[in-house]
Amino acid sequence: MARCVALQWSPLFWCLSVLCQGILSLDHVPMVLWSTDRSLQDLESTLYEGHIVSMPELHLLLRRVIVSPVSSNLVLFLQDSLSVDDFTRYANSSGNETPFHNVQEFLKISPSSLVLPAVDCHAISHLSDYLQETLNSTVVNVDGPDIAQWMVNVPNRPSLFVINLQPIRRINELSTQEGLMENDRMIGRFIQTWQQEGVQSLAIYTAKRPSKVPMKSGVAWHTRRQLLSAEDQENNEYRPLNVTSEANGTDTPCILFYATNFSLIANGSELIDLTNLTFLHQNVDFSLSNCSDTNTILSLNYINPKNTSQHVIQSLKISFLMTNKFYEGSARNWFTLDFVHIQQDDRDVAIFNVTDISAPAEYSFHCQLVGTNALDGVTLIQASDEAANWEVLISEFQIQAFGVESNAFSYASDCTSFFTPGIWMGLVTSLVLLLILTYGIHMITNLTTNSRFDDPKGPALSVPQTE
Ligand SMILES: *[C@@H]1O[C@H](CO)[C@@H](O)[C@H](O)[C@H]1NC(C)=O
Ligand SMILES: *[C@@H]1O[C@H](CO)[C@@H](O)[C@H](O)[C@H]1NC(C)=O
Ligand SMILES: *[C@@H]1O[C@H](CO)[C@@H](O)[C@H](O)[C@H]1NC(C)=O
Ligand SMILES: *[C@@H]1O[C@H](CO)[C@@H](O)[C@H](O)[C@H]1NC(C)=O
Ligand SMILES: *[C@@H]1O[C@H](CO)[C@@H](O)[C@H](O)[C@H]1NC(C)=O
Ligand SMILES: *[C@@H]1O[C@H](CO)[C@@H](O)[C@H](O)[C@H]1NC(C)=O
Ligand SMILES: *[C@@H]1O[C@H](CO)[C@@H](O)[C@H](O)[C@H]1NC(C)=O
Ligand SMILES: *[C@@H]1O[C@H](CO)[C@@H](O)[C@H](O)[C@H]1NC(C)=O
Ligand SMILES: *[C@@H]1O[C@H](CO)[C@@H](O)[C@H](O)[C@H]1NC(C)=O
Ligand SMILES: *[C@@H]1O[C@H](CO)[C@@H](O)[C@H](O)[C@H]1NC(C)=O
Repeated sequence: MARCVALQWSPLFWCLSVLCQGILSLDHVPMVLWSTDRSLQDLESTLYEGHIVSMPELHLLLRRVIVSPVSSNLVLFLQDSLSVDDFTRYANSSGNETPFHNVQEFLKISPSSLVLPAVDCHAISHLSDYLQETLNSTVVNVDGPDIAQWMVNVPNRPSLFVINLQPIRRINELSTQEGLMENDRMIGRFIQTWQQEGVQSLAIYTAKRPSKVPMKSGVAWHTRRQLLSAEDQENNEYRPLNVTSEANGTDTPCILFYATNFSLIANGSELIDLTNLTFLHQNVDFSLSNCSDTNTILSLNYINPKNTSQHVIQSLKISFLMTNKFYEGSARNWFTLDFVHIQQDDRDVAIFNVTDISAPAEYSFHCQLVGTNALDGVTLIQASDEAANWEVLISEFQIQAFGVESNAFSYASDCTSFFTPGIWMGLVTSLVLLLILTYGIHMITNLTTNSRFDDPKGPALSVPQTE
């Protein structure tokens, strides 16, 4: 009986694990590699933007780097969590001691290096096993604090070092920054010791899972659930706003902007719905927009967006200020949306700061909700007194201001990963309930009724032991 149940359960567990793997593979982490030789050269060309490197692709790539017989050591620095956002947010912070100072230096001075912005998490969890198999060498697992002893004992035979860095305590910005800095120092000391000894090595810095973008739960989750059902009947009436600039005498597209709802609320009550004006009739003047390789302004001017007896707004100007900068830690360009300005008529400009909108410069950025409400996906922060009079709500926000090609959005970097803890918990709970139900049904189908009954008048019933 017990064996039979176990047999029944195993396919279910198998299903569960396959499902988990499928879902987890949506997550991706960045990977930074640098080497003391030129083996990483020319690999960049084999990659294309916006692509998540899968496990077979990563293996193929590593096989081209690691040629056997192995002549150099391999060091794998594994952090608990890391995202490309960490690079944009912390890589250029002030002072000499930035969180990725050493990694940046190694990328710069190494004969060859490579940055993979997105590698499937599933590939990372099997990476050390894969490397061990490929290299056929001893693996030295080092936990953060024990690292010092391995810095002096440089191995005399090429080995694979898996260094588990200290977990980052992401309670607030400061603790995150300190955690990253501490790990960076450790990487720095380790690699520098080896450099002094002249040890040949290939170093890989990556993480087991992506770090969470600070994100408010609650409403954001709610709206994403709504999105799920609304996605199929997507509104095709709206066309992306298409801003062109005159370069070399020809009109080239430089900004694409799209949303399914673009509304402002003035003074807490006056709703100004700009969705139809912007995306349906395209009755908006964007001639003041300004494109360049480093700074781009999307400027939307509306004439008479509101004309009721109580409220007359003669002109409304909304600007999105974006920059494209090089961040060394990630060895690539990123675009960020830094400010949103709103100006009604000739009044003071309402300024909002934006912190969470960034993507590789070649990508577009997408978020289900962008707005002033603190519970939204990306929050606009009031940065001038006038801003207190305005609320902004943009749903299905998508923007691209650099590297626009052929009038279509590139791969979109999303503000959140789709599977939130809430959805996860629901999924796992349902599966557990399903298991219990299966077990219950199985037990019920195995019930048998008694074939004999005790007769109080007759002789006592005896059940043979052999039955
Ligand atoms: C791995 O290395 C050992 C010796 O270190 C050798 O005996 C063995 O054959 C190697 N295996 C493979 C698959 O190369
Ligand atoms: C953008 O503008 C170009 C030229 O003005 C036009 O050919 C293209 O169809 C437009 N794309 C969209 C999505 O409106
Ligand atoms: C404009 O001209 C410059 C050099 O004259 C060239 O590098 C660039 O690609 C051109 N841009 C477009 C959009 O044709
Ligand atoms: C946009 O959102 C506002 C507030 O939720 C709503 O009143 C308005 O009807 C929406 N507009 C569109 C076009 O869906
Ligand atoms: C908001 O309130 C201010 C002062 O109370 C008023 O001048 C302004 O017109 C109002 N704005 C709108 C859009 O109603
Ligand atoms: C926007 O346009 C659609 C379709 O023409 C219409 O149904 C809707 O009422 C309009 N919304 C506003 C706020 O004008
Ligand atoms: C665009 O920006 C450049 C430099 O910031 C400036 O010189 C130019 O006048 C601007 N163009 C427009 C149309 O605002
Ligand atoms: C606003 O609407 C009224 C009629 O509803 C019209 O007389 C007036 O000219 C409009 N104002 C503007 C600035 O268009
Ligand atoms: C980061 O530093 C590099 C070089 O020091 C500089 O070119 C780049 O503009 C900086 N990025 C930001 C966002 O400050
Ligand atoms: C907005 O950004 C500016 C410039 O980066 C900064 O000086 C200001 O303190 C920020 N304001 C808020 C409220 O974050």
